[in-house]
Amino acid sequence: MEQTVKINSKIILKPSRIGKKYYVKTFGCQMNEHDSERISGLFELDGMQKAESEDNADILFVNTCTIRENADDKLYGTLGHLKKWKLESENRKLLVGGCAAQKDKNLVRDKAPWVDVVIGTHNLTNIINLLNQSEDWGPVTEIIDEIENLPTDAPSIRESEFSAWLTIQIGCNNSCTFCIVPSVRGPEISRRPSDVINEAKQLVSEGVKEITLLGQNVNSYGRDLKIDNKSRPYFAQLLEQLNNIPDLERIRFTSPHPKDFKKETIFAVKELSKVCNQIHVPLQSGSSSILSKMHRGYNKERFIEKIDMIRSIIPNVSLTTDIIVGFPGETDEDFIDTMDIVNYSEFDAVYMFKFSPRPGTVAFNMKQEFVEKKVIDNRFQLLKDTQTDISERRLKRFVGTEQLLLIEKLSKKNNQIYSGKIDSGQITHIDKGDLNLGDFVKVNIVDSTPFYLKAEQL
Ligand code: 5AD
Ligand code: SF4
Repeated sequence: MEQTVKINSKIILKPSRIGKKYYVKTFGCQMNEHDSERISGLFELDGMQKAESEDNADILFVNTCTIRENADDKLYGTLGHLKKWKLESENRKLLVGGCAAQKDKNLVRDKAPWVDVVIGTHNLTNIINLLNQSEDWGPVTEIIDEIENLPTDAPSIRESEFSAWLTIQIGCNNSCTFCIVPSVRGPEISRRPSDVINEAKQLVSEGVKEITLLGQNVNSYGRDLKIDNKSRPYFAQLLEQLNNIPDLERIRFTSPHPKDFKKETIFAVKELSKVCNQIHVPLQSGSSSILSKMHRGYNKERFIEKIDMIRSIIPNVSLTTDIIVGFPGETDEDFIDTMDIVNYSEFDAVYMFKFSPRPGTVAFNMKQEFVEKKVIDNRFQLLKDTQTDISERRLKRFVGTEQLLLIEKLSKKNNQIYSGKIDSGQITHIDKGDLNLGDFVKVNIVDSTPFYLKAEQL
């Protein structure tokens, strides 16, 4: 029997691919992972089932990333391999979406004419229409500049039963000179708080215990909404409202911007019981002159003030950061400034990247100042070695403490061990025993390795 599924006022699907199998291959960040969950949701509404791998899929969606050059290289390599996949059966459909598709517009089609559908980041909810169109009319590309509808209008098939992403904002209004994101994800748009709260309640009713709020600049959430004139930041208010949802256990968020951290947000993290004790503060560089060239909106001193403010309010908070090594013009002195902040801040983890020139960004045109690859590699290694010691030391501070652990998945290496996270975000392993996925358990942290904690149930 043909069934009509109404997703919202705009999307109506009649499942037409019952019995077909899909697979989604995702590159890049959490935003992409969440977009892939929404693509899966649309595929399932169309009657498809998830395949175990691309080998037994009829429809393959590749969700691309373009934040660094190697992501692009990987994509075009992957598309080459997938030509063989596509040609193995006439019925196979290859779909390419995400940031690289948005950025490169017709390039994906030109380089890989065997792709059936190329779709941008702004019109994902149109994927089934385009798939239908490609079946009737042949290969199709639809990349649009304006946002068609907020991506969160679509349903999701989540990877995890107990943890969910929740998009609170799309796009970015900043203009960091190294970053391609504003040009592929568009301007910043906040979802209405009532929509966010409703989606959170819906997720909780489906059994979700932990929500991670997603946005390019979450702590500036709401500045475009102009709902009222209260001086309190909208983001802190949103956290407060989410904290009141019964049966929701944990709230995390990523990614904030250091320049937009207000005291109220830090107090919200400290005081709201469900908001986890973890803050990401992306430094990018410790040198004031590089920060200015990056257009980050703070200098070395202001960043240190933020760290001091956060630690004075929540002394035991877990701090993480992003750092780019080798931005154009970075001298040894600039790099020493970065190392100084790393040593001073004692981050729990640092996500480190070698500068990658992205066409279309301001930094791409700073070619005369590009730093030699060998110099970047050496600096990167030094940063990595320093931070490995700090991270290991920071993990050890949990040994001997009591924590609440959410059991999230089986360990990849040992099916007798579960892996989960404690409140402040550290990966923690525990013997399976009679525990179940989704359990919230009180544990003792008994040991630490360089990368994770070991726990025993209390
Ligand atoms: N080169 C290297 N790293 C980059 N990032 C963003 N753009 C670039 C680039 N062009 C890093 C930043 C950002 C993280 C998500 O990716 O550190 O915070
Ligand atoms: Fe890119 Fe800067 Fe926006 Fe982050 S804040 S997405 S680094 S432009």
